[in-house]
Amino acid sequence: MTESRTKIIDLLKMPAGGTVQVKGWVRTKRGNKSIVFIALNDGSTIHNVQIVYDMNVFSEEELRPVTTGACLRVRGELVPSLGTEQSVEIRAEEMEIYGTADPAAYPLQKKGHSMEFLREIAHLRPRTNTFGCIFRIRHAMAYAIHKYFNDKGFVYLHTPIITASDCEGAGAMFQVTTLDLKDPPKGKDGSVDFSRDFFGRQTSLTVSGQLEGELGAMALGEIYTFGPTFRAENSNTPRHLAEFWMIEPEMAFYDIHDNMDLAEDFIKYLVRYALENCAPDLQFLNNMIDKELIKRLEGVCDTQFVRLSYTEGIDILTGSGQTFEYPVSWGIDLQSEHERYLVEKHFKRPVILTDYPKEIKAFYMKENPDGKTVRAMDILFPKIGEIIGGSQREEDLETLVRRIREMNMSAENLDWYLDTRRFGTAPHSGFGLGFERLLLFITGMTNIRDVIPFPRTPKSAEF
Ligand code: 4AD
Ligand code: MG
Repeated sequence: MTESRTKIIDLLKMPAGGTVQVKGWVRTKRGNKSIVFIALNDGSTIHNVQIVYDMNVFSEEELRPVTTGACLRVRGELVPSLGTEQSVEIRAEEMEIYGTADPAAYPLQKKGHSMEFLREIAHLRPRTNTFGCIFRIRHAMAYAIHKYFNDKGFVYLHTPIITASDCEGAGAMFQVTTLDLKDPPKGKDGSVDFSRDFFGRQTSLTVSGQLEGELGAMALGEIYTFGPTFRAENSNTPRHLAEFWMIEPEMAFYDIHDNMDLAEDFIKYLVRYALENCAPDLQFLNNMIDKELIKRLEGVCDTQFVRLSYTEGIDILTGSGQTFEYPVSWGIDLQSEHERYLVEKHFKRPVILTDYPKEIKAFYMKENPDGKTVRAMDILFPKIGEIIGGSQREEDLETLVRRIREMNMSAENLDWYLDTRRFGTAPHSGFGLGFERLLLFITGMTNIRDVIPFPRTPKSAEF
């Protein structure tokens, strides 16, 4: 049987006295002929435990392979520490080296590395302080998301990853096929015969679980999905991934105002949860990455988000006297620079923009009586831009079918979806929160590749 270990997060709260055993990876080593100190980290916390070796008990030879990155089991007495950084430390009595890490080859030596370099060794970067913090926070946020919805009585609905429909209608889908790409079966007209593909039709990885989520909401009342989504858009920006995680609640009987209230409450809950439960990790990121981080997080919890229409937003931008790279006029899809002007310069707080032109939004959004705009709501955040996209859904069958035609989509493919409007339709709404965009905000990181363990972006699918 493997010997039990005390996790460092628990050990650092224990009073001195008694024997403990820890297992973890060496961060640093220093000392002299008579005494050696190592800092050991086991991933349970940003903090290391200090291990003190009396060189009358240990030989130099025994300690030679104990270098940065090596993995150890150490047993010893928990004693009061003379150092200022911790109250207890371990006086080593016995040690086993599980694995060494050749200093000439191990890439994570003591000095700070650039984020670009760490991305190239993404398989090792969880061993750094920064990425340890980020992935613990990522976990805490995933847990908080389930807790929030569970406490409200929402049902977690698993929507499919492989799908035959394009929810956002943007055509940015990754195809899923088992056909022989060198010699696919062809029909009489020369086009690929997908009836002979694995599913008997053309399929892709989903861009959103919303359409299936709506089916759930129209039976269970309030549901959410939380899973990976995929977009084959060639966007090489610090805010886009080809594989990202999205949280999509969908609620029967909510109009767009109820939807905005939920979204604002949800984000504030998550930020507050992080402040209350991830304090040591946030403090580290605040010191090392972004000195304004904690202040910004606290600020969001206390401020009411501004709500205004797209049209009002355009008026502010055109009246701003500012020159933008992409000129502003009614009807344009807002660029990051426009969103950030509204949030960071004009209002200086999060903004919810509503009622966008229907041409730039998806087919399922509810049309306003003006015939030009739809009941969309995007939440824009400082430093991030769009963090949430959502809407009230078109519940009227005829209007929805007309919208599908106007957008040159096939209504046959969506017949199952239209059944919700044929049978017991109801007003309903929902939104999608990009999990990694949320994590950018919570951690203060600036590149979305650094808040997901294994980023997938154009021309890159390492590890
Ligand atoms: O605005 P989007 O495209 O909305 C939907 O997919 C709706 N079906 C959601 C719904 O109403 N249920 O995406 C929602 C959010 C965006 O606001 C953004 O935070 C994130 O998903 N997102 C991305 N995050 C990382 N990389 C990408 N390529 C992203 N595309 C969207
Ligand atoms: Mg959007």
